[in-house]
Amino acid sequence: MPLSLRKIACIGAGYVGGPTMAVIADRCPDIDVTVLDLNAERIAAWNSADLPVYEPGLAAVVSRARGRNLRFVGQTEGAAYVAAADAVFISVNTPTKTEGEGAGKASDLRYVESCARFIAAHATGHTIVIEKSTMPVRAADCVKSILATARPGVTFDILSNPEFLAEGTAIRDLELPDRVLIGGERPESIAALAEIYRRWVPAERILSTGLWSAELSKLVANAFLAQRVSSINSISALCEVTGADVEEVAAVVGADSRIGPKFLRASVGFGGSCFQKDLLSLIYISESYGLTEVAAYWQQVVDLNQWQKRRFADLIAAPIADGAGSLRGRRIAILGFAFKKDTNDVRETPAMDVCRRLLARGATLAVHDYRVTPESVRSEFAAQGVEVAATPEAALAGADGVAVLTEWSAYATLDWARLAGRLKVGAVIHDGRNILDAGAVRRAGLILRSIGRGAQPNA
Ligand code: NAD
Ligand code: UGA
Repeated sequence: MPLSLRKIACIGAGYVGGPTMAVIADRCPDIDVTVLDLNAERIAAWNSADLPVYEPGLAAVVSRARGRNLRFVGQTEGAAYVAAADAVFISVNTPTKTEGEGAGKASDLRYVESCARFIAAHATGHTIVIEKSTMPVRAADCVKSILATARPGVTFDILSNPEFLAEGTAIRDLELPDRVLIGGERPESIAALAEIYRRWVPAERILSTGLWSAELSKLVANAFLAQRVSSINSISALCEVTGADVEEVAAVVGADSRIGPKFLRASVGFGGSCFQKDLLSLIYISESYGLTEVAAYWQQVVDLNQWQKRRFADLIAAPIADGAGSLRGRRIAILGFAFKKDTNDVRETPAMDVCRRLLARGATLAVHDYRVTPESVRSEFAAQGVEVAATPEAALAGADGVAVLTEWSAYATLDWARLAGRLKVGAVIHDGRNILDAGAVRRAGLILRSIGRGAQPNA
């Protein structure tokens, strides 16, 4: 008899677990969806009007499903829902290990392992366990060995169903995915999960592979995307010294249908919780199989990104540092702290690296962001010298330099004619996202330096 998943649970109510389950519940009103998390504060926020994750469209999806067939519960209460579930998603964090074997590169699977132990302890009958978290290839073996410790008569099958959503566009990505990937060993389990997605995803976009290919494909997809950003960022430096314009180069290169236009926006560097983590995981796996050249190839994508962030901070410092390179007494306005627009996420934000480098040289910073809370900004800095500004205007007051680090649309329409007087005379505006209206900035008598653009006539 074909399997049918009527009750599902998801362990981990983060940026992936929360939105993904909300969309499944919204699209499948007949499926009972429970999301559980160890973090009681996060669960309380999911049950409130002030959701813990900012994503355009998320609040509407949650409000339609929550209290109908979607619930958010703590771990203790969640045990009974795991026991009753036909399928349990594991959607917990898999950060880079900070200690032990593979520290600094390998993915830390301790949270996944603890989920597997929780499922093994509480599941009843037959349960499909679905890896939604991004895992190293062959991690399902480790989950399987933990599940094997369950009580006699309790059985499992494992699927890998990695998530490809990007923050800031999570709801759109979940509702209209390029593809859904389901890796597994048993066709009936793959079909049961595919049946859920089939409610709103066309069949040809649901890809099924073996377990190891699914696990590896997720790492490789992120690595390829990050590689494009590092590629264009390497060219941004070349454009700046030659007088070429990286936007023009990217448009020409991207017009080739074999290359395509996406992920060719030069920037201060890529950030977010996954690109670097997943690249490092891929590098570690390659090294552990003795594939030194493969590891070195992908390491360069990470190294170029670190270099771009340092390079950008040094460009900001150059016109205002004293003879000894110090920025003491200099105030720099930081416009944008999130790792990209339309999210409140600051994990691995490039803004942090830029700020740290400027602070280390003695600068004082005034940080503004539209969605990142002041507490979130402050919690990132142990050092003094960081002020959180409520508006871009407040950040700019008395600034010796300005850096645009997140591409919030509202920064693109700032009224520079009005704002110019707030800055110190001679202040340079550094656009790390190429979103400012260069003409408007220059008409206001200000000096603009854009990433990947050679010196301009008035610069
Ligand atoms: P997150 O840190 O936002 O959320 C993870 C949640 O899991 C946290 O709330 C944490 O409290 C909870 N948790 C950890 N261990 C637990 C346990 N044993 N029991 C119950 N709850 C537990 O992480 P995220 O951004 O949602 O990422 C989750 C996974 O999805 C990662 O593997 C990541 O690589 C992958 N991913 C993330 C994104 C993204 O855009 N953030 C996109 C695709 C894939
Ligand atoms: C990325 C992938 O796009 C998702 O498919 C994947 O699911 C996710 O990682 C994950 O596994 O976590 P995300 O990190 O949320 O999503 O956001 P992206 O849009 O990929 O941007 C990542 C970083 O690259 C941001 O800092 C962004 O500003 C930067 N970027 C992106 C550029 O600098 N230039 C570009 O052209 C594109």
